[in-house]
Amino acid sequence: MNNIVILGSLNMDLVIDIEHLPKIGETICGQNISYFLGGKGANQGVCASRVIDGVSLIGCVGNDFFGTVLLKQLKKERLDISGVNIMEGISTGVASIFKTRYDNAIVTVAGANSYCDVQKIKEQTNLIRDSKVLLLQLEIPIDTVVYAIKEAKSSNTKVILNPAPYRNLPNELIDSVDYITPNETEFEYMYGSEFNDDKSLEKAMVCWQMSHPNTRLIVTRGRIGASYVKEEIVATSESLKVNVNDTTGAGDTFNGLFACCIASQKELDYAVKFATTGASLSVQYIGAQTGMPTLNEINKYMVQNG
Ligand code: RIB
Ligand code: NA
Repeated sequence: MNNIVILGSLNMDLVIDIEHLPKIGETICGQNISYFLGGKGANQGVCASRVIDGVSLIGCVGNDFFGTVLLKQLKKERLDISGVNIMEGISTGVASIFKTRYDNAIVTVAGANSYCDVQKIKEQTNLIRDSKVLLLQLEIPIDTVVYAIKEAKSSNTKVILNPAPYRNLPNELIDSVDYITPNETEFEYMYGSEFNDDKSLEKAMVCWQMSHPNTRLIVTRGRIGASYVKEEIVATSESLKVNVNDTTGAGDTFNGLFACCIASQKELDYAVKFATTGASLSVQYIGAQTGMPTLNEINKYMVQNG
């Protein structure tokens, strides 16, 4: 049986270092440009593949230079990419990431990712049915997400939905996934109000969890760590204190690692701690996938972290 199937986007990330974000109408000079593999689907796939065997990715790239580079690199990561379609005459997804020391602003162009339609899933039904976990995000058409979740549910494949970037989701979709993993902002959208402090966020989490008893909520909270509701109280697994250089892909690292734990039937407490520890390690390095840790690295810090 396959461990994890990930359905999602593949992008080439163009990371441009700048001193400050440009104002409207302003032209500024960037210090440096680097190219990194990205896209939430590919990132989560690479992350999981560094930790566990039997990880597959379903998605679409274009028949162009970026697509070729992406697939070559993903193969090196031992990711099964037989479910990635190469689309003639379409460009591979791109994310332009403008990055200052403290901030970033991202513009993505979906390109081939927007061609990841229901038909592509129909061709991969067996893979979804034969996997322990289906992990998905929202950078591909929503119909595809809905269809894949239905397939998974009809065959006891556990579903983890990372609702990023956030889009309005039908309630029945939310109730049909096993785990949902928004960050704080995405959870504000899900909940329908903004939180001014930790207390109101945590209160909302408890409230949300009580009204969605079949879907486990885990909120990723950056420096703070990740939280979930345990016996009507919010439990938090803390992030490690590290030197932060690039938070791009931190959420993806969390989700990839969390999926590994669910596939190997770890308890929720352990899964959240493992994923939080790994995500903290990843932000020390520039590029979404560069700092994604191995199993040994995570285990070492799990011990140090008590
Ligand atoms: O989550 C980070 C990713 O989001 C980047 O790699 C970029 O491609 C965007 O899709
Ligand atoms: Na990183």
